[in-house]
Amino acid sequence: MTSASRPHEAHVAAQFGSNAQAYFDSADHAAGGDLLAIARLVAGRPDCCVLDLGCGGGHVTYAAAPYAGDVVACDLSIEMLAVVADEAARRGFGNVATRQGSAENLPFSDAAFDMVLSRFSAHHWGDLGQALREMRRVVKPDGLAVVVDVVSPGRTALHDTFLQAVELLRDPSHVRDYSPTEWSDALRAAGFEPAEPVAARLRLAFAPWIARIGTPPSLVAAIRELQARMPPAVAEHFAIEADGSWTLDTALFEARPAPETRTA
Ligand SMILES: C[S@@+](CC[C@H](N)C(=O)[O-])C[C@H]1O[C@@H](n2cnc3c(N)ncnc32)[C@H](O)[C@@H]1O
Repeated sequence: MTSASRPHEAHVAAQFGSNAQAYFDSADHAAGGDLLAIARLVAGRPDCCVLDLGCGGGHVTYAAAPYAGDVVACDLSIEMLAVVADEAARRGFGNVATRQGSAENLPFSDAAFDMVLSRFSAHHWGDLGQALREMRRVVKPDGLAVVVDVVSPGRTALHDTFLQAVELLRDPSHVRDYSPTEWSDALRAAGFEPAEPVAARLRLAFAPWIARIGTPPSLVAAIRELQARMPPAVAEHFAIEADGSWTLDTALFEARPAPETRTA
């Protein structure tokens, strides 16, 4: 099957499956204030049952496992899950299990988890609304969802278009970096009560960023060309550097099930 005729999820699984080790090794993914915040939230609910959705190389799972009762690392990619299972065993985390599954159709029963965590995965989901409804279904009525992702800065339309264009050129399995307002609206529509997002900035060194997902040279050249053609307001916002390194906006969203939906 050509990539043009493949369903989106197969495309995502192929993109990440062939780069699983690179995502485990990635310095951009292995550390960050967001991981520390997630670890603190899990530590505040000792022995809770956690889902790490779109676990990738497993950095959220490793942050949660010392405090959680159980952690289920879930991803479309079986190669990612193999990396996480090996690393969890190497670290002696006997409370980590892996499960292949799609965010839009989670293979778990209703109210199965105290916490559903997802970091840097949602911008690949084909149907954000359906995935958030699934997160709401599998989290307990008194549970918590925590989502971290790159966000659109919510400035001009050009800032948004540039961000999505570069992301898509780098990785055709990209869907959308939503703005904080789009996120809050989507979380509410799915039955959550979102708190104020916690904003941060993430500098991405260009060479490892494109190497990690195997962007072909023609598309790397297109990204560099696009970066060079942006007006100062856009170039300055994304702090585009001479070698193509740039700085993106991220946000951490904590969301509790809305009271009127807590019937499960
Ligand atoms: C950038 S990696 C995640 C990084 C990881 N969460 C971390 O914090 O290091 C994105 C992951 O999301 C997974 N993914 C994308 N779309 C998905 C979907 N619809 N359902 C489940 N997993 C998905 C990909 O397979 C990939 O492993």
